[in-house]
Amino acid sequence: MVRKKLQKYFEYLQLSGIEDIYLKPVKAKEKIKIIQSQNIDTKQQLIDLEKKYQVCKKCNLWKGRNKFCYGNGNPNAKLMLIGEGPGADEDRTGRVFVGRAGQLLTKMLLAIKLSRDDVYIGNIVKCRPPGNRNPLPEEKKACLPYLEEQISIIKPQILLLMGKVAASTLLEMDTTLKAFREQTYYYKGIKTYVSYHPSALLRNPGWKKFAWIDLQKIQKEYNTL
Ligand code: URA
Repeated sequence: MVRKKLQKYFEYLQLSGIEDIYLKPVKAKEKIKIIQSQNIDTKQQLIDLEKKYQVCKKCNLWKGRNKFCYGNGNPNAKLMLIGEGPGADEDRTGRVFVGRAGQLLTKMLLAIKLSRDDVYIGNIVKCRPPGNRNPLPEEKKACLPYLEEQISIIKPQILLLMGKVAASTLLEMDTTLKAFREQTYYYKGIKTYVSYHPSALLRNPGWKKFAWIDLQKIQKEYNTL
């Protein structure tokens, strides 16, 4: 659309006898300012949307909600992590991955030399399912537009889907976690990996060695960006 409009404009200029256009080079300082203002925009955009959505009643999960857990982290992250849904600690604080699973996730990130401030973390559903059950299809369907919008604003270059709920929802296929892990995917053009959910690793510490293999793949990819 923009390209077509530009093409027409250039044609018009050419017909008007203008054959050369001189662009003033953008100075390094100005470039930094432009990037900084883009960063502030992304952060503000997410803050505004979180405010707008926190009264959401699109599915029944709002009835048991203390806090709407939109997502946390770097609004300009190159790597975005996606879990399932808030647990009790997250519901109490409004922040994602702050309980035991969150502590393990922080350690997993540190193992590949990343901090929580380097990444953005979101969930498939933003309100806690009762008793930490898996979110129902209608709950995921209602909530998914929020996550899709977050991804389109943050524009990560790598996605890590943690656990089967995140993988099957975003990749729209159902298979075992083992099979999910064997491939890399492209979700809306973004390189996407699947690995274990930290809660699953807390329940099955023997799987940590496989999670470490996945993390190393992600670190390698991240270091090429
Ligand atoms: N488990 C999740 O999937 N998300 C959280 O935010 C916390 C635990």
